[in-house]
Amino acid sequence: ASKRMSIKTLVESPGLTSIPSNYSYSLNPNESAGSEPDETIPTIDFSLLTSTDPHQRSKMIQDLDRACREWGFFMLVNHGVPKSLMKETLDGCNQFFNLPMEEKKEYEGKDIWKPIRFGTGVDVKIEKFFFWRDFLKVYVHPQFNFPNNPKGFSEVAEEYSKRTREVIKELLKGVSESLGFERSYIEKAMNLESGLQIFAVNLYPLCPQPELAMGIPAHTDHGLLTLLIENEIGGLQIQHNGKWFNVNPLPNSFLVNTGDHLEILSNGRYKSIKHRAVVNNKATRISIAVPLGPSLDTVVSPAPELIEGESGRPAAYLPMKYKVYMDHQLEGKPCLDHVRLPVA
Ligand code: SIN
Ligand code: FE2
Repeated sequence: ASKRMSIKTLVESPGLTSIPSNYSYSLNPNESAGSEPDETIPTIDFSLLTSTDPHQRSKMIQDLDRACREWGFFMLVNHGVPKSLMKETLDGCNQFFNLPMEEKKEYEGKDIWKPIRFGTGVDVKIEKFFFWRDFLKVYVHPQFNFPNNPKGFSEVAEEYSKRTREVIKELLKGVSESLGFERSYIEKAMNLESGLQIFAVNLYPLCPQPELAMGIPAHTDHGLLTLLIENEIGGLQIQHNGKWFNVNPLPNSFLVNTGDHLEILSNGRYKSIKHRAVVNNKATRISIAVPLGPSLDTVVSPAPELIEGESGRPAAYLPMKYKVYMDHQLEGKPCLDHVRLPVA
C-alpha cells in the first residue's frame, strides 16, 4: 500500500482547489442530512445525578433512560470539568498537529494496538475510500501513554482523561440504575478499574469541496459511553429515527453517546447509534472523542437479569471478549454484526 499524505499536509500544498479523486465520497440521497433538525437532542444535567433529593434523582434516572433509549446521544451540562481544562486540551491537540511531520511520523502505523497512533483517513486496514481527516489516537487507561511533545500537553491530557473517566463512571452508575440494577453494576461487570479508555483526536482541515468529501464515515463506537468535545465548528451528524441530522455544538458541554458494549450489555435496550463527521471550507475542526469501555479481557454478553424472567427477552448478542471484538476492527467490518443474533 502506498503511503498517504496527511490531510493537513495536502491542504497546505499550494493551489489546492479541488480534492483528489480518491477522496470523493458520494452518499445516497436518502442518506443526506436534513438541514432543519425537527427535534433537539436531549440535555442531561450531570449535577442532578448526585442530588440528594430522591424525587429529583428518580426523574433524572428516567430522563437518562429516555435519552439512551430514544436517542443514544445527549448533551451533558453541569459536568464539573473546568472550561479551562477543556480549552487547554483542545489547544494541545491543535499544537500536536502543528508539530513537524518528522516528529508525528514516529507514531504512524497500522497496528491498532500501538499505544500512540497518528494517521490519516479511516482507521481500518481495508480502505475503499479516503477520508478528510487526520487523527491521533492514544490509549490512556489502564495505562497512561502520551506523546512527549508539545511540552506540557501530556500532563493536561492526563488530567483531562482522569476527569472524563470520572464523569463516564458516574454516568454509568446512573445507567446501571436506569437498567434496574444497583449503582455499581456496570462498573463491576465491565471491570472498569482497568477499563479501556481512548483519547481520540480528529482533525478536519479546510476542504475545498466539502460536499464531495467525508471526514468520518458512518460508524458506531465500540465502548460503553463516549464523551465528545470540539472547537465549536460543527460537522457531526447522527442518525435518529432513520434520518440523519446535524448536531449543533453546545459550548462547554459534553456530547455523550452510547456505544456497542452498552447495547450488548443492555440486550438492545440502548442502541449504539450511527454517526459521521462532514467537513467544511470555512474553518479547521478539531474534535476529541473519549470512549470508555470494559477491560480488554472482559467477556461481554447481555446482562443475565435482562434475558431471564417475565420482562426479559432472549439474548440478542453472543458473548465476546472485548479484545477480540476490537480485533475485528482490523477487518473493517461493523463489529456489532459479529455478535448480533437474529431474535424475533
Ligand atoms: C467520532 O465519531 O469519533 C468523531 C465525530 C466528530 O468528529 O464529531
Ligand atoms: Fe465515533
